[in-house]
Order: sequence, then structure tokens, then C-alpha cells
Amino acid sequence: MTKQRIVAIIGGTGLQEFTGDGVASGTVGGRVTPYGETSSEIVRSQLSDLSCVFLARHGNPHTIAPHKVNYRANIWALKQLGVSDIIAVNAVGGINPAMPAASLVLPDQLIDYSHSREQSFFDGESNPLQHIDFTHPFSASLRSQLLAAAKAVNLPVHDAGVYGVTQGPRLETAAEIKRMAQDGCDVVGMTAMPEAALAREFAINYASLCLVVNPAAGCSEQLITMDDIHKVIAQGMGQVRGLLSQALPVIISDPLN
Ligand code: HPA
Repeated sequence: MTKQRIVAIIGGTGLQEFTGDGVASGTVGGRVTPYGETSSEIVRSQLSDLSCVFLARHGNPHTIAPHKVNYRANIWALKQLGVSDIIAVNAVGGINPAMPAASLVLPDQLIDYSHSREQSFFDGESNPLQHIDFTHPFSASLRSQLLAAAKAVNLPVHDAGVYGVTQGPRLETAAEIKRMAQDGCDVVGMTAMPEAALAREFAINYASLCLVVNPAAGCSEQLITMDDIHKVIAQGMGQVRGLLSQALPVIISDPLN
């Protein structure tokens, strides 16, 4: 018998809950892990005869800053539930002029500028030291399934990009963004790391679906305001939900090798 995929959505800013086209059927697992508490309860949603689980990265309500998220607890708890695939939703700033506010991006690479976060399960303390391969930080198969779903609903999505991960919670300076642009970053956010690396350590497929919610610092004449960001989120997260609802049945039904 082929094993069924268990897909988790990790919702970021603007996506504190998600039931797809299904109904929430209660919480699963506990919040307490050997690494501390998860950001939120993990909620199961039933989509016809399929199901997925959802975790709110910043808590529900949204109270946990990006540098204070307990990434290890979140990924550990999902692994305990047998999660095979994670679709992470991230609100980001746009650096590449081809990615203005309201764009959707499926990055294929990242550069980590964050610091002082618990980065690993294999740090020689809680588990023996191991160096995982991280050449391609995002799952090619999940990305192509998400791209196919976007095509099916006629939603333009950038099919590649470099996600620069900053420490936050403050936004960047114009000079920092200029340097990141020179480094090759297309978008900037605060949460893809260490989340993506921790998922890789546990061999969980991981893709990041980014919604550009503002031009990055210095990329527009205007200063960045939370008001403007919230306006983009209100509209853009509707598209993210639509895309996830289209993609999930296909991803969940894809047999696990
Ligand atoms: N910088 C970093 N993180 C972000 C931004 C940004 O401009 N917008 C949304 N998340």
C-alpha cells in the first residue's frame, strides 16, 4: 500500500488560519515539544476524503516576532505528526523591480542573513552533529506542483527567485537592500530560515509561497507603512488561499515513494 502524504501549511503574516475548501476538524498533537512550545495549535482540516494540517507561525492571534518564533518546536511537532510536505506562506518585500507589491513568488534559492536563532536539530547537543545537503533549499516537486496549480487557476506566479532572510523585526535600511540586490536577492523576508533548513534536516519537502506585500526599503519613493502592507495582504492572501485550495488535493494525492 502506498503511504499517503501529510501536507502542512505554515501560515505567515496575514494567514493565521486556513481550512481550504474543507472544514477544521480539531487540533492534532500537543503544543509541547522537547524544544518548547509550538507557535500555535496544529489544526487539521478535512478536504473531502483528504486532509491537511495548519500551523500559524506567528501564533493566532499574531503575536510572535520572526526572531522569536520557535522554529524547532514547530518543525519537530509537524514531523511527529508524520508530515511529509510543508508549504510555507511568507509575506515579503520586493527587491527585484519585476516583483512589485501583490506579486506571488515561488523562490528556488535563499541567502540567510539572520542570526542568533536556534538553527539545527543536529547541533551536537540535542542530537549528534550532522551537515545536511542544502544546495537546493526548496523542494522542486512541491514548487512545480504549486506552479501547475497556479497555471490551472490562471494566477501569475514567479517561478524562481532568491529569498534573502533578515533578522528583523525591524525592516531593512536602503543600503542593506542595495547590498542584498547586489547579492542577487529578489525578495526579502524574515522567516524562511531556519524553517527551511530544519525541514530538510527531517527530510520534509519544503516550499515557500511568497506574497510581496511592499517594495523593499529604498525601492520606492515612499516609506513602508503597515497600513499599506495590510491593504496588500487583505487582497493577496485571498489569492494564496485559492492557489492552496487548488494545489492541495493534487499534492496530497501524489503517492509517496
Ligand atoms: N523586509 C523584510 N521582511 C518583510 C518585508 C520587508 O520589506 N516585508 C514583509 N516582510
